[in-house]
Amino acid sequence: MTPAPALPSFTAHNGFSLPAIGLGTYRLNGDAGADAVAVAIRAGYRLIDSAFNYENEGSVGRGVAAAGVDRSEIIVTTKLPGRHHPAARARTSIEESRSRLGLDATDLHLIHWPNPGQDEYLQAWEALVDAQQRGVVRQIGVSNFLPEHLERIERETGVRPVVNQIEVHPFFPQEEQLAYHRERGILTEAWSPLGRAKELLDEAVLRDVANAHGITPAQTVLAWHVARETVAIPKASSPEHQSSNLDAAAITLTDDEVAAITALGRPDGRLFGADPATHEES
Ligand SMILES: NC(=O)c1ccc[n+]([C@@H]2O[C@H](COP(=O)([O-])OP(=O)(O)OC[C@H]3O[C@@H](n4cnc5c(N)ncnc54)[C@H](OP(=O)(O)O)[C@@H]3O)[C@@H](O)[C@H]2O)c1
Repeated sequence: MTPAPALPSFTAHNGFSLPAIGLGTYRLNGDAGADAVAVAIRAGYRLIDSAFNYENEGSVGRGVAAAGVDRSEIIVTTKLPGRHHPAARARTSIEESRSRLGLDATDLHLIHWPNPGQDEYLQAWEALVDAQQRGVVRQIGVSNFLPEHLERIERETGVRPVVNQIEVHPFFPQEEQLAYHRERGILTEAWSPLGRAKELLDEAVLRDVANAHGITPAQTVLAWHVARETVAIPKASSPEHQSSNLDAAAITLTDDEVAAITALGRPDGRLFGADPATHEES
């Protein structure tokens, strides 16, 4: 097996590090999903993103087991769904995820959405803090949390998340939230980092930067994430996309190129309008 390429990594307030590029697995399900995860790990991926709601924790776990890479090198992430926020359900859900993944402990467990209308995310966070103390999970974080949600869980428990996984791509660059995370040593993971590979990749500025470096528009977007110290987790089912995405971590863009790509951002740039202030995810 080829040795894993050394990826740049970013480090949180407690010393926990993540590689700059990981694998998204939304819609990688069943046997094909397990195969895609195993192939990705053999190609050098060490961070895998999953969620209870993707209904693929079993496949992700099988892919991790089949890859033939030392388990201790791989960071397996999953997420607690909104309907499992209440304390009693959260504890069981966290244990269920670990069982489905077939792991002794989940490496990184996130709250999927804050669901502020439901207003039970504090209970969910307390359950994750407890699970970490019991050794069921190694690191704990959140997803789609706004500063007010981050501040509340830290104020009530004294525990700061290591990661906040949020929507970030050139149409929605989230400059302010990234700066907020950086000041506090919270790692930003970018979901839909390629904008789901739709019209974003046809933008002229991306084509120009790509041509200047002899790379693809998708690699250009991923290099932009790396330059902004954001962990991108592109989903890719084909080995070609997986490898080319990993190679993007070694590409350095100029400050002007980064700024030109960030300028594609627009206030309504969210892919499907899911605003964490109002979105409720079951
Ligand atoms: N926390 C949350 O609320 C949340 C929300 C959404 C997503 N996520 C996570 O973030 C991950 C990534 O987001 P996403 O799946 O929505 O979108 P994405 O990663 O931005 O885009 C995925 C699409 O890009 C294509 N693609 C991948 N590499 C490519 C390349 N090099 N060139 C051209 N096309 C390429 C994939 O096609 P192929 O599969 O054919 O390669 C797939 O159609 C998810 O899988 C999930 O793990 C989290």
